[in-house]
Amino acid sequence: MFKNKINKYLNYQLNLEYYSSKLYLEMSFWCDIKNLENAKIFFKNSSNDELKHMNKLSKFLCDIDILPVINSNILLNKNFNSLQNIFKKAYINEKKITHNINYISDIALKYKNYKIFHFLSWYILKQIEEEKVLKTIINNLVFYNNKQKDILIFDNLFLSKYI
Ligand SMILES: [Fe+2]
Repeated sequence: MFKNKINKYLNYQLNLEYYSSKLYLEMSFWCDIKNLENAKIFFKNSSNDELKHMNKLSKFLCDIDILPVINSNILLNKNFNSLQNIFKKAYINEKKITHNINYISDIALKYKNYKIFHFLSWYILKQIEEEKVLKTIINNLVFYNNKQKDILIFDNLFLSKYI
């Protein structure tokens, strides 16, 4: 029972990281087309980070004899229509990841599997950091209207601190 459940949600987590990597890569493409140089780099870096999170998790799964299964039919939400919109989508995505990590941590603690819980603690702390950065960017972005000129200024002046 425990093994089936934990396998399922750890594997789901792996796919969430994979999905995030692809989502942020597409966001970086959108920023590139809009000439938002720093936002492009921000999402490209985020995409690479998510891939590292996925690899870290897949290595752990192999170490504990769980075969990782990658879902290659991941559908992305490509309705990107503004910089505000993509940062909000990224934030919602990170909240979803946090929720799943907390859920797996609950299961691990319930069944006293401290090995898995200890491993997940790295992700718990990472999520605090990632949510904080996105929330700060979103909170500052509200001071800029959606005109291309203002968004370019935001990209140049504000986002440079986050790449
Ligand atoms: Fe991640």
